[in-house]
Amino acid sequence: MRFQVKAGPASRQRADCIILPAYSAGPLPAATREADRAARGALRALLRNGDFRGETGDTLLLPSVRGLRCPRVLLVGLGAREKCERKALRKATRSALAAVTRSAAVEVVSYLGTEDVRGTDAYRRARIAVEVWHDAAYRFTALKTRASERNRTPKQRLLGIAVSGGDTAEVRRGIAHGQAIGAAMALARDLGNLPANICTPGYLVGRARDVARGNARLSVSVLDEARMRRLRMGSLLSVTAGTDEPARFIVLRYRGAARNKAPVVLVGKGITFDTGGISLKPGPQMDEMKYDMSGAGTVIAVLQAAAALRLPLNVVGLVPACENMPGGSATRPGDIVRSMSGQTIEILNTDAEGRLILCDALTYGQRFRPAAMIDIATLTGACVVALGKHRSGLMANSGPLADALLAAGEAADDPAWQLPLGEEYMEQLKSPFADVANIGGREAGTITAAAFLSRFVGTTPWAHLDIAGTAWNAGAQKGSTGRPVALLVEFLLKR
Ligand code: BES
Ligand code: MN
Ligand code: ZN
Repeated sequence: MRFQVKAGPASRQRADCIILPAYSAGPLPAATREADRAARGALRALLRNGDFRGETGDTLLLPSVRGLRCPRVLLVGLGAREKCERKALRKATRSALAAVTRSAAVEVVSYLGTEDVRGTDAYRRARIAVEVWHDAAYRFTALKTRASERNRTPKQRLLGIAVSGGDTAEVRRGIAHGQAIGAAMALARDLGNLPANICTPGYLVGRARDVARGNARLSVSVLDEARMRRLRMGSLLSVTAGTDEPARFIVLRYRGAARNKAPVVLVGKGITFDTGGISLKPGPQMDEMKYDMSGAGTVIAVLQAAAALRLPLNVVGLVPACENMPGGSATRPGDIVRSMSGQTIEILNTDAEGRLILCDALTYGQRFRPAAMIDIATLTGACVVALGKHRSGLMANSGPLADALLAAGEAADDPAWQLPLGEEYMEQLKSPFADVANIGGREAGTITAAAFLSRFVGTTPWAHLDIAGTAWNAGAQKGSTGRPVALLVEFLLKR
């Protein structure tokens, strides 16, 4: 797909389809009014006679409107003018572009971004259009063999973003950012959707290398199990003990600023499949645990976006990747391991494995002397209970870092919600035999998981994103969402 800034009135566009906005009441938006005049009132008539109500996300595809040069008009509702804000625009854009993918139009020009919607500017509106296009066009067909199923990818080749007035430079920037974010989210989604027999730790290494290839600012190094042992990552290694699949620890670095500038370190949970280990999970929906590497996918994708955007900062992506399996050499409940930090951990439940690989990665991350360290993990079922699929859970030891991430989530429409940390939660992790236990009981499961992690970050400003609810959709719409790539790229853009 190509994205392009388009000048000129709607009535003059020769694309295969133009997208025009309409409100549920009141005067037509300027771009639509212009087209309506050329069409001698045909569009206004549809609104007047009630065939098109203009509620947010309503669409109506009109063939051959007389007076216009393009063969199709897609009318799109923005709802009530006084209520229309960024989220409504995103929703309307989503249904508009979904309708476009069902059409045969190859070249499309959208005038949705010419409306000065509250909470947006020309940059944001262009970015939304491009991001939403990536979302609407995303298909995971790599493992289908029938041509008819593989070829479900949309036919569109060009999306023009109409500008009003002197916004061209801003729209260009919005398109570039939207492309970087959209492509990164698609990568994260692909990695998430791939099954665990394909998406192994070794496979993630290959994809990280693909991302870095040909970009002088990106570099990859990979630690194997022997290296992890020499680093004394006993906690991480205890998780991979039950599987034959070799574990990997990926270090993907982006250098966009001077060498001495402290980096942002991103740590992504890369459990390529979580059976629970000896503390085996129940059968139903266990297949969804192929998504347990979504934090890893997020990190690889965000590094790709950072490089595409040539961000003026340094970012280090750390991906501890392994499988959590039962087996003859698997870790048992009650086993005590020594983490890289030196702290001993009593593993009371082998299904609380995410924190066991993350703690060693967080210890390792400190060698980069980070300005901030953020881990991203499908860590607790409790987070799904608390926040559902709408918001990622956020916990942090730094107020400013938490605030910046929350603000980025709002701005990018990829929101998070903060939960507290504190000594009182640490109490729940006491072990009679080791320095700490890996579970804290039924209460506040999301917070005790974060409290565990907080023991391994020292004084580094650190935040933890629990994406157990947001990383994928279950049910009929089953699939990876690409969250929270947009939140993190927004955070980096603002830094
Ligand atoms: N990967 C899971 C968390 C998870 C479960 C995410 C369901 C999304 C949906 C994690 O490794 C896990 O199993 N956590 C346990 C922790 C418990 C044993 C303290 C959980 O949440 O049940
Ligand atoms: Mn688990
Ligand atoms: Zn897990």
